[in-house]
Amino acid sequence: MTNAALAGADAAASAPGSAGRAAESPVDTAAARRGEARLAVSAPDGLGLPGRSAARTPTAEVRQALPLVTVRDLSVAYDTTTVLDGVDLDLFPGEMVALLGASGSGKSTLMRSLTGFAPISSGSVRVAGHDVTNLGRGELRTLRSDVGQVFQQFNLIPRLSVLTNVLTGALHGAGPINMIGGFSGAHRRRALELLDRVGIAHKANEPARSLSGGQQQRVAIARALMQQPKVILADEPVASLDPKLADSVLELLREIATQDGIPVLVSLHVLPLALAHSDRIIGLRHGRMLVAGATSQLDAAALEPLYDDEEHDDDAHH
Ligand SMILES: Nc1ncnc2c1ncn2[C@@H]1O[C@H](COP(=O)(O)OP(=O)(O)OP(=O)(O)O)[C@@H](O)[C@H]1O
Ligand SMILES: [Mg+2]
Repeated sequence: MTNAALAGADAAASAPGSAGRAAESPVDTAAARRGEARLAVSAPDGLGLPGRSAARTPTAEVRQALPLVTVRDLSVAYDTTTVLDGVDLDLFPGEMVALLGASGSGKSTLMRSLTGFAPISSGSVRVAGHDVTNLGRGELRTLRSDVGQVFQQFNLIPRLSVLTNVLTGALHGAGPINMIGGFSGAHRRRALELLDRVGIAHKANEPARSLSGGQQQRVAIARALMQQPKVILADEPVASLDPKLADSVLELLREIATQDGIPVLVSLHVLPLALAHSDRIIGLRHGRMLVAGATSQLDAAALEPLYDDEEHDDDAHH
């Protein structure tokens, strides 16, 4: 079974495989203009970010499609503490976007905002056609089934088989189902295909707990794909893996983005991984977006201000 066959004709058609051919065409969508404007105003001196030509970067071509996620001027507050402040974000089909920022900068909160789990105080959030700030009756379930999630700790059910863990992805949006014998043959075939795609079909009948961390994360990715997501959010998916496995899991996620046309937002805390495995990087600092740009235009020095410590910051003020 090949990956192409598994991806399905629809997915292949929507993948941005032709992005390279469009490299010459000017990108003048409203989203790109906004991105350009934001870069111009949010990049502090010395960040080394590109200037006004930033919108015409290689990743800008994918923006000719409509974004699947659009966040505008998002603020999130817990009680009186503002955790996200004026965040803008677009995610386009087929791109892998790395989300960076020091601990507490708001990465997980931003991801939670996309699935209706954060107290949004102002701004707009649209995800796969859903207005997250104004969800209709029953729409929360559909929203969450449209968003595949991958977590640092994999969140598998350890005693259940790998196959059953993947099948639980089909429960999203389906309402309560009897787990025993509740899955159709078609579901099982699809789960096996997905396990084949992520390279661990031979482990299908093993209990999830018997797998290595890297293998477990692959199961979790197959589970996310099982729900046929329109967007994938991966919150520190490789933080528990050694560097080699981290690379291979990020390669898999990027392959899914490219081949299936699903945008992947992935938070990372290792800069070289973000630089090696993303099309675009956005960086939060104290809940504000400090960096937004094509990965090809960024380097470690440009990302360093995201991690400047507080004392340094205070010094600058006094
Ligand atoms: N449920 C909550 N109630 C109150 N404050 C919260 C809650 N969730 C998050 N916060 C606060 O919001 C801020 C951002 O947290 P968040 O988890 O988004 O950071 P993060 O960038 O994901 O950090 P890390 O890299 O450690 O995962 C932190 O100051 C945190 O204490
Ligand atoms: Mg977090």
